[in-house]
Amino acid sequence: MTTETSEESKELPTSVDLAAEYEASGVAEVLRELDEELIGLEPVKQRIRETAALLLVDRARKSMGLSHETPTLHMSFSGNPGTGKTTVALKMAGLLHRLGYVRKGHLVSVTRDDLVGQYIGHTAPKTKEVLKKAMGGVLFIDEAYYLYKPDNERDYGQEAIEILLQVMENNRDDLVVIMAGYADKMDKFFSANPGFRSRIAHHIEFPDYSDEELLRIAEQMLDGQNYHLDEAARAAMKEYISLRRQQPHFANARSIRNALDRARLRQANRLFTSARGPLDAEQLSAIGEEDIRASRVFQGGLDVDRPMHTGEQK
Ligand SMILES: Nc1ncnc2c1ncn2[C@@H]1O[C@H](COP(=O)(O)OP(=O)(O)O)[C@@H](O)[C@H]1O
Ligand SMILES: [Mg+2]
Repeated sequence: MTTETSEESKELPTSVDLAAEYEASGVAEVLRELDEELIGLEPVKQRIRETAALLLVDRARKSMGLSHETPTLHMSFSGNPGTGKTTVALKMAGLLHRLGYVRKGHLVSVTRDDLVGQYIGHTAPKTKEVLKKAMGGVLFIDEAYYLYKPDNERDYGQEAIEILLQVMENNRDDLVVIMAGYADKMDKFFSANPGFRSRIAHHIEFPDYSDEELLRIAEQMLDGQNYHLDEAARAAMKEYISLRRQQPHFANARSIRNALDRARLRQANRLFTSARGPLDAEQLSAIGEEDIRASRVFQGGLDVDRPMHTGEQK
């Protein structure tokens, strides 16, 4: 038996069943996960569904021998801290892998310090090392605009930028770059670096969550850890969210995660110091009103998330 290897002699399909492809590729599964695991983010989910559709059609066209050019898949995710950018980037990596656009589908997440060296001659090797690790997957550059320091002529960031631009052009069939950060800073960054703007085809905006969405996120996070809010605690959490939002360093879902970490600490402490006799599973998993209301936010104080978790330092 001989195997035909030349492109011309391969039988091309005369039709494709997109719905079947959608299920078989595993794309359907990733999109379902995205829908279920992430509260809200409707516009983001819509954009991702559109991107998936585009890529599925592109793949189908390629399989039928229709004119084909690898689409540009570099993206920017703009939005405030804690709006789900990193989480969605991970899903995106899985999606691109299932569609065959990247070989491995892993995500390498970096910031300026991972790419730019402190001394002359250190930046190029650092940036190249990161690119090597990311090849075949997604390179996620958080707060990408810090690469560019217009006030400093001698900044090594420029060197990293030039290498990135080159690789984004030459290796776009094997590496997808996602740049993330605050919307206004990203805009300025792209205006000052048109090379990036022209290489990034997909700009996705991540809106802040509403109070109601943050409450649902809180309940989902607790549920995943086998905890829940009792009714009074739920009301307290609602108040907490509207107060916390007005404070500095508010970081959407990340502030919620941090607040819940503290609430669980208080619950444990409360149970430990006050419980007499055996506790049942319900007592061990219920977060009470007092566990939420003990936060300084209710006394007009600050409940500042550690800056390293808000993406607001530097
Ligand atoms: N829509 C959402 N539903 C549930 N959890 C979310 C949602 N968005 C973010 N989170 C959670 O909030 C935290 C911060 O999200 P992350 O993706 O790191 O935000 P960003 O990268 O925009 O700062 C993570 O623990 C993530 O799981
Ligand atoms: Mg992030």
